[in-house]
Amino acid sequence: MKIGILTSGGDCPGLNAVIRAIVRKADELSFETIGITNGWKGIFDESYKPLNLNNVTGIVNRGGTILGTSRFSPFLENNGKDILLHKISKEGFDAIIAIGGEGSMHIAQQAMDIGVNVVAVPKTIDNDISGTDYTFGFDTAVNIATDAVDRLHTTAESHHRIMILEVMGRHAGWIALYSGIAGGADVVIIPEVKTKIEDVVEVLKSRYKRGKIFSIIVVAEGAQFLEKEISNKQTSKKLDDFGRERLGGISYYLAEEIEKRTGFETRATILGYIQRGGVPSAFDRVLGTRFGVYAAEMVRDKKFGRMAAIQSDTVIDIPISEAIGKLKTVTPELYKVAQVFFK
Ligand code: F6P
Repeated sequence: MKIGILTSGGDCPGLNAVIRAIVRKADELSFETIGITNGWKGIFDESYKPLNLNNVTGIVNRGGTILGTSRFSPFLENNGKDILLHKISKEGFDAIIAIGGEGSMHIAQQAMDIGVNVVAVPKTIDNDISGTDYTFGFDTAVNIATDAVDRLHTTAESHHRIMILEVMGRHAGWIALYSGIAGGADVVIIPEVKTKIEDVVEVLKSRYKRGKIFSIIVVAEGAQFLEKEISNKQTSKKLDDFGRERLGGISYYLAEEIEKRTGFETRATILGYIQRGGVPSAFDRVLGTRFGVYAAEMVRDKKFGRMAAIQSDTVIDIPISEAIGKLKTVTPELYKVAQVFFK
């Protein structure tokens, strides 16, 4: 059995733990493992590196991906389907393990539909893939964002300012919500709930009245506002390789608007790629390892077209199609918990 392993989409802490675990389990099963570089593009470029016990050693704690990644989709290329099938059979892959986020899961499903034996492993710091309680990378990102909230607290307090922290989260506010709750933010703004700036202003003013002359806001990059002048300014209008608008910068417009409406000095910080880089947390290393071992077993059991997932602390597998049907967004129940502290 010859398995190709690829990482696709934005990188994320814990990817190397998955790669290492697949190779270790595959070795036990006497499977050959080949690393495909830079996501699905590596198949088009025929850019491969054999993976074995020796070259996946010492990577469990390393951020990023030793295979490189890209947002390349074979299905957006001319003759993409045929090229993909041709190159896979030329290399003699019996199965592909694709480790990726939401966009990459769509590609995995499309590949499956044309006859490629795909096993998928979900990854994203955004934690927004359905069918799995967690994706690895999320815990690390939350820890980094929480540390940022803690740091902003001390400077906000010293300068009597409103500090806004912008974190990642295109359609789902998991990082914002978790770091906001953990860091004691006074307002958390997530894409799932359309926000009225005046409501935020009310919270800030009432805090001021009771002597709290600083505040912390955590906002997800994909936040939606009822006021059009903010939402329209949200993206750079440039697209990523999956054709999605690039986000980032909403906090600057929000800061301007809040300062205008409250008269309080307001500053914005975009956490950006810091939350995606660096060493994975212990939780993400363990989750990545469990997914990797399980993915190799899925190949052994010919569970193609399925994705590894964790539900109630048990690793299981679900159809990829189930995972891509709908994004996993923050539940109203959880948002209500955060709202208790918006005062
Ligand atoms: O990994 C998903 C994500 O974190 C999104 O929240 C964010 O919009 C995107 O990555 C940004 O990544 P890039 O700049 O690499 O496209």
